[in-house]
Amino acid sequence: MDRIIISGGHRLSGALPISGAKNSALKLMAASLLTEEPLVLENMPRLADSRFMAHLLAHLGVVAEEQPGSKLKLEGRALESTTAPYDLVRKMRATFNVLGPLIAREGRAKVSLPGGCAIGARPVDLHLKALEALGARIELSEGYVNASAPAGGLTGARIVFPFVSVGATEHAMLAAVLARGTTVLENCAREPEIADLADCLNAMGAKVSGAGSPTITIEGVSSLHGATWAVVPDRIETGTYAMAAAAAGGDVTLTGVRPAHNAALWADLREAGVTVEEGEDTVRIVRDGPIRAVDMQTAPYPGFPTDLQAQFMALMSLAEGASVIRETIFENRFMHAPELSRLGARIDVKGNEAVVRGPAALKGAPVMATDLRASVSLVIAGLAAEGETVVSRVYHLDRGFERLEEKLSACGAVIRREREPV
Ligand code: UD1
Repeated sequence: MDRIIISGGHRLSGALPISGAKNSALKLMAASLLTEEPLVLENMPRLADSRFMAHLLAHLGVVAEEQPGSKLKLEGRALESTTAPYDLVRKMRATFNVLGPLIAREGRAKVSLPGGCAIGARPVDLHLKALEALGARIELSEGYVNASAPAGGLTGARIVFPFVSVGATEHAMLAAVLARGTTVLENCAREPEIADLADCLNAMGAKVSGAGSPTITIEGVSSLHGATWAVVPDRIETGTYAMAAAAAGGDVTLTGVRPAHNAALWADLREAGVTVEEGEDTVRIVRDGPIRAVDMQTAPYPGFPTDLQAQFMALMSLAEGASVIRETIFENRFMHAPELSRLGARIDVKGNEAVVRGPAALKGAPVMATDLRASVSLVIAGLAAEGETVVSRVYHLDRGFERLEEKLSACGAVIRREREPV
């Protein structure tokens, strides 16, 4: 197992390229199950999670070929299996999204209930209700979902989500594109990754409108064809490096981004005293002076993303004053707080609220990554801390951040990876 060693206290400066969005890429990969023709994804992030999804797709009969220039070609000419076994699903929740496409194309599927980051219960009831509304018969048995479509295939339906779910919105879209008739999804998640998936499905011949708004309408088509699609830039990676630059201090330009996708974060960073200059596909982050405490509450898009909450907490530990951070999407998503405290952050957690009292003079220490976003908050704190921080269990980081040490080193961070001694 690897660990990351950071020698903190160095300002960051230079340009830092942003990769394609992990959360979008995984659902776009699932869309390859919907056609016999090749789906070529450009701007693909090379991550443990996308490799994991490729393994599952290969098991189902989709041939994945990495091509130069961050491209991935996926071709599922004839599917070989409709079963997604536990071992190929348990590590990552997004794998569950193969269920809908398999039912839509093959009329049946058996998919293990998912795993993923340990950030709360994270059930899949909304996914299953949406598929049932489209006519799928669903049975749960021995940790698996057994599903089948009626003889004539899935049929369009009106589905009102009781609350906003990114995964369920995407899953319903992935199944409804091949259903007979019209599907109307209401109270949809509005994350940019949802519009990215809808646009890619449309490039494959689907008829999806309204993605990015609360109501999505899908006119079912009988088949989809191949397409080439560039994955939307990763707004979570963008926000993470923006906060790394703000925490360490310096002047960093993030390139290949969609600045509008991080509007909520930019507002909070500006309030905290950080300069944020938005270009067409760049964002420049400058921080020279002190950081001010800002209260923040996570919310579905366009609100502040839960996937940036841990990073924001690391930044607020350096701010002057007290910041109240409220997590409204997932319970149990403050596992980073005790680890940040090991570096000297002063954080009190009560239920879904954390009070961060700054400014703390962070000092390097050994810490442990607990989940994907939590682990990168420790890297951010380590960059700002005095002395050496050692982050173990970095496989969490590798799930979602491409070439992290390389990107940060190029901006002047002193950070390296080594094998963990046994
Ligand atoms: C996705 C993202 C994840 C992000 C989250 C919220 C991917 C691969 N992951 O996760 O990084 O943190 O959106 O922005 O895209 N829920 C139910 N029943 C369901 C589905 C969800 O109760 O059937 C609950 C969840 O437990 C959670 C809330 O709904 O409390 C929102 O979850 P959801 O938006 O579905 O998140 P994911 O799609 O799992």
